[in-house]
Amino acid sequence: MYGPLISIKLGTQLVVVASSPASATEILKTQDRLLSVRSVPKVATYVLSVIDQHSIVFSSDLSNHWKFLREFCRTHLFSPKAVESQTALREKKVSKMIHFLRSRNGETVKISEILFDFYPLFEALDLQGLRKQTEIYQSQLINIWSEIVKEKRQAISRHSSDFLDVMIDSGFSDLQINILVTELISAGSDTTTSTIEWAMAELLRNKGAMHKLQAELTSKFRENDIITESNISELPYLAACVKETLRLHSPTPFLIPRRAPETWRDSNTWEDALSFRPERFLDSKVDFRGQDFEFIPFGAGRRICPGLGFARQEIHLILASLIHYFEWSLPNGEDPMQLDMEEKFGVTLQKEKPLLIVPM
Ligand code: HEM
Repeated sequence: MYGPLISIKLGTQLVVVASSPASATEILKTQDRLLSVRSVPKVATYVLSVIDQHSIVFSSDLSNHWKFLREFCRTHLFSPKAVESQTALREKKVSKMIHFLRSRNGETVKISEILFDFYPLFEALDLQGLRKQTEIYQSQLINIWSEIVKEKRQAISRHSSDFLDVMIDSGFSDLQINILVTELISAGSDTTTSTIEWAMAELLRNKGAMHKLQAELTSKFRENDIITESNISELPYLAACVKETLRLHSPTPFLIPRRAPETWRDSNTWEDALSFRPERFLDSKVDFRGQDFEFIPFGAGRRICPGLGFARQEIHLILASLIHYFEWSLPNGEDPMQLDMEEKFGVTLQKEKPLLIVPM
């Protein structure tokens, strides 16, 4: 009905949607430099000049500040070495989550809340149990956060170990720290949490896929083995389930202005595009690293999501653990096929009705 490039008005915003791999390539590769510029949404808390100087997500152009912040985060948070050095933290968080879920055996849990409570990113950013507040208001977060920063700044001796220490030691002002941390939390928490929630919902509805994933995990781990990041790297069906979830339920189809094109539910590109079929990725080299323009849930080009490697590790580890250690069902024997799969626009594109499930 429409061509591969359409423009729509969402309120006062003009949104251009590229819905074919070719038009996505044109935007994110050929014209990437020109189109890497972002427009800052009106809801942003800070004035434009502050954002331009300090923000990574909303810096309007590819300024030196933006380059510095990307490089800084890459070195200290997102490089393969940095991601690996946080492995123990993630594994500790996931093991706590499994412990907690075991204590709720047979009870209904809201999976997004559990995920958020045990979210490893908060540990990596040294947020020590502050997540409840972070969920509520940014200003509250900043108040609490500022206290930690103050304490750290006043401490007589600190060994530079976590990301906050490195920011302080690199001369970041309080404002710079507040903006960067807030952005990393907003960019990194709901996206990952909602991906896992959607994956669980899809797996509950698609019993064949659930059984294949369980079988893959059981072939590799015994019942009480500890799943670690080093031993989940060779689980092709798990990887395919994660990709298929991101294809069907990309958390950020429109949200960061400049927008990742929506090509992944396009029926010209994907056979049976609306069905959850992880098998489509099994014998395929298509990956989400920004090279295959039919599937770019993390964007592509200069502004590709820098948290990609970080997110992938977390999602794989958490999903593998949830599926391997528990049998899941819906409360009151509800039929998974009746699950409401509607989406809603929030900070990310989320499941409208939070998934309530029962671990056994
Ligand atoms: C499933 C998980 C995630 C998805 C699907 C996702 C997706 C995206 C997308 C589509 C963009 C915009 C790319 C573009 O404009 O081309 C983006 C940007 C960004 N993401 Fe992610 N993301 C995820 C997880 C994370 C995590 C865990 C972090 C950090 C801890 C993170 C940090 C960022 C940042 C800082 C940017 C802005 C980059 C810039 O403008 O230069 N993301 N993400």
